[in-house]
Amino acid sequence: MKTYKIGSIPGDGIGPEVAREGLKVLEAVAELVGFRYELIDYPHSGEHYLKTKELVTDDVLDEWRGLDAVLLGAIGHPDVEPGLVERSVILGLRFGLDMYINLRPIKLYSEHLCPLKNKTPDDIDFVVVRENTEGMYSQIGGHLKKNTPDEVAIVNGIYTWKGCERACRYAFELARRRGAACGAGGRKAQVTLVDKDNAIRPHDIWDRAYAQVAKDFPEIANDHAYVDACCMWMVKNPEWFDVIVTTNLFGDIITDLGAMIQGGMGIAASGNIHPGRTSMFEPIHGSAPKHAGKNVACPLGMISAVAMMLDFLGETEAAARVEGAVAELLGSGAIPSADTRSGISTSQMGDMVVAQIRKAVQ
Ligand code: IPM
Ligand code: MG
Repeated sequence: MKTYKIGSIPGDGIGPEVAREGLKVLEAVAELVGFRYELIDYPHSGEHYLKTKELVTDDVLDEWRGLDAVLLGAIGHPDVEPGLVERSVILGLRFGLDMYINLRPIKLYSEHLCPLKNKTPDDIDFVVVRENTEGMYSQIGGHLKKNTPDEVAIVNGIYTWKGCERACRYAFELARRRGAACGAGGRKAQVTLVDKDNAIRPHDIWDRAYAQVAKDFPEIANDHAYVDACCMWMVKNPEWFDVIVTTNLFGDIITDLGAMIQGGMGIAASGNIHPGRTSMFEPIHGSAPKHAGKNVACPLGMISAVAMMLDFLGETEAAARVEGAVAELLGSGAIPSADTRSGISTSQMGDMVVAQIRKAVQ
């Protein structure tokens, strides 16, 4: 039996609290389903940086390349220069290990969690495939005459054919798998390309890459939306979406909106994926310093990230058990909301998920 090597980066703020619950669920489901893993802890965080001035080095990146997966809690510390540690750890992993897909499912488990009127779980079930290694996050740019009245700031949006092509291909393959899983009578399999190629002309590289990839998937419906319209449709008609493929920045923005329509930042999870190589799984929320240390943060985003990791590793039964437990607890109202006002503590929620997983197999 294979032993998975899993890196754990609990990080800052509520990160360690939610990560603990994620690991609790991982341990329980591994025992139940029967797979082995080894956990390797990494201290990288804003907190660690303040103590040691240490960021992610090339040696650490090399070590991470040898892992099957990484679980990350949250990164960000109010006393550290904004974004410094996030760029080192989160973007370090994404760019350094070429995790070119950021997969973000938007799935509503229960109508009462949704702030939109009359939308049910049937209406909100789509996935955003966010390109994860280029676009406006390229870090290519800088300042001229900084802190003078003549200051110039430049940031380059980089879109490569390879980057667009592989993101589109991943999205179409995902739509095909989702279509097959629904079977006849399911919703139509569709990939929506979200960009802004009316105002930002070079975005048409996305249209051309999309059109070329689409030819290999004749059964998948084609669709296109500008990012502003996409935000409108996500609120008005979220049922129109199946798979969205989009740029790094647009994917970042629309998935916060997506998190809100699926029940809040406390439930949204993501996978930073390079198929066949080390991939990293994290909740999409941040370190939320104001909630840290109070045992009130919702760990369901982290726990759902564990489910995504298990699916990626091929432990599909374990993944389904974890997701099923989260869906059942939210659907039944046993966990009334995925936020700090649920009345259920972080550690209690982890215990409830473990108990639900065990109950489901009895
Ligand atoms: C996310 C976050 C990150 C991003 C930050 C922390 C760099 O917002 O994962 O969505 O912008 O990608
Ligand atoms: Mg974000």
